[in-house]
Amino acid sequence: MLYLALVAALLPAAFAQTWTACNPLNSTGCPTNPALGGNATFLWNTTSADSNVWNTTNGKVQYTPAGGEFTINERHDSPTIQSKFYIFFGVVSVIMRAAPGQGVISSIVLESDDLDEVDWEFIGGNHTHVETNYFGKGNTTSYDRAIYYPVDKPQDQFHNYTVHWTKDAIEWWIDDNSVRTLKYGDALGGKNFPQTPMNIRLGIWAGGDPDNSNGTIEWAGGLTNYGKGPYTMTVAEIYAQDFTSGKEYAYGDKTGDWESIKITEGQSKAIKEITSPHGVTGRWKALSKTTQIAIAASAAGAAVLCLLAILFCCIKQRRAGRREYAELEAQREKEAAELVEYKTKMANGGFGHGSHNNW
Ligand SMILES: *[C@@H]1O[C@H](CO)[C@@H](O)[C@H](O)[C@H]1NC(C)=O
Ligand SMILES: *[C@@H]1O[C@H](CO)[C@@H](O)[C@H](O)[C@H]1NC(C)=O
Ligand SMILES: *[C@@H]1O[C@H](CO)[C@@H](O)[C@H](O)[C@H]1NC(C)=O
Ligand SMILES: *[C@@H]1O[C@H](CO)[C@@H](O)[C@H](O)[C@H]1NC(C)=O
Ligand SMILES: *[C@@H]1O[C@H](CO)[C@@H](O)[C@H](O)[C@H]1NC(C)=O
Ligand SMILES: *[C@@H]1O[C@H](CO)[C@@H](O)[C@H](O)[C@H]1NC(C)=O
Ligand SMILES: *[C@@H]1O[C@H](CO)[C@@H](O)[C@H](O)[C@H]1NC(C)=O
Ligand SMILES: *[C@@H]1O[C@H](CO)[C@@H](O)[C@H](O)[C@H]1NC(C)=O
Repeated sequence: MLYLALVAALLPAAFAQTWTACNPLNSTGCPTNPALGGNATFLWNTTSADSNVWNTTNGKVQYTPAGGEFTINERHDSPTIQSKFYIFFGVVSVIMRAAPGQGVISSIVLESDDLDEVDWEFIGGNHTHVETNYFGKGNTTSYDRAIYYPVDKPQDQFHNYTVHWTKDAIEWWIDDNSVRTLKYGDALGGKNFPQTPMNIRLGIWAGGDPDNSNGTIEWAGGLTNYGKGPYTMTVAEIYAQDFTSGKEYAYGDKTGDWESIKITEGQSKAIKEITSPHGVTGRWKALSKTTQIAIAASAAGAAVLCLLAILFCCIKQRRAGRREYAELEAQREKEAAELVEYKTKMANGGFGHGSHNNW
């Protein structure tokens, strides 16, 4: 027991996702953090993630009527996605079903650029408990931060995992119950308390891969059996609320203290995109249900029209910055193709396990 607890605490939790491109405590000139600066609900059981708001950082997430699916089909698969926006204190609720499978880890991570971190981790072979954890400024040397809480069959049922984060305390909620509270002062007098703007990262990885250390494999519940897969984590909904309203956040110095964070006023890019989406998937979301059904019913027709439109535009744009245009168009086409593929699958009832297929 003690050994296991030690091992768990020594691990950088969800290490597949806990990295930073630029640590503002070490370097100057890191990019600022685009804010959420408001509230947002993302329903991945009815729309795919808007690529202007979410960045798929590894692999592919499949959007089905059950939700966004993160699947390990074979060794080295580890689909992950992260929000392009940051919240500076706030609420994050994720309605999800964890992946089954020994050595398979599903995770929800809030992570800041200076490696403050708040976690939920689901060990595929453990059907009774979920791990909560936190780190401050990348300090992974503690022995007692990982705490497990009971939850009913997290691999079979959707549950609501909520983090409620203020400058004074962090609460972890499972459905309607607050299970853990970490007060600022109890995290090494605040030094290890997560307090800088964090983004949301979701993903799945094989903690039980044979290349991992014995400690990691043991913590993950044993070796991953790739032959028994696929293993899928499903995210139906994410609710994010930023307690700070602003356009972006920046580190004012190298302390990593919340008082040092500078807030730029204004409407955030994320809220602009959510209220008036620009991407194809976002525009789809903005359409009325009736229009969506009409489009879904003629997915093939839509594809032809799309092609004609592209041809027309290509001819029209021939002289104007051909290469730049091609790049933009490639991105647009990719989104359109994904959307059509999604719609076609939906229209054909192609998804096996959607419980509410009300398209
Ligand atoms: C930042 O500096 C600390 C202490 O000097 C070091 O341990 C850490 O690896 C550095 N992190 C990055 C991302 O450079
Ligand atoms: C976000 O939601 C909360 C709680 O429902 C509400 O009090 C607040 O006004 C909302 N903020 C914005 C910017 O919509
Ligand atoms: C999105 O993810 C890719 C791949 O990890 C990375 O190279 C890129 O910088 C990210 N973009 C943003 C806006 O975070
Ligand atoms: C699940 O995790 C809890 C808490 O660490 C532990 O007591 C229990 O034995 C674990 N169950 C399995 C099947 O590993
Ligand atoms: C990291 O955390 C440990 C345990 O909480 C603490 O003893 C240590 O002083 C911390 N290190 C730093 C650099 O804050
Ligand atoms: C998730 O749980 C939190 C905390 O109990 C609650 O406030 C929120 O409304 C729940 N969200 C959904 C979508 O059920
Ligand atoms: C890891 O476990 C394997 C199998 O139990 C064992 O052969 C090996 O010596 C262990 N390695 C370490 C570094 O403990
Ligand atoms: C999507 O998921 C949410 C949260 O679990 C649920 O309340 C809603 O009914 C689902 N929508 C559909 C269409 O299944």
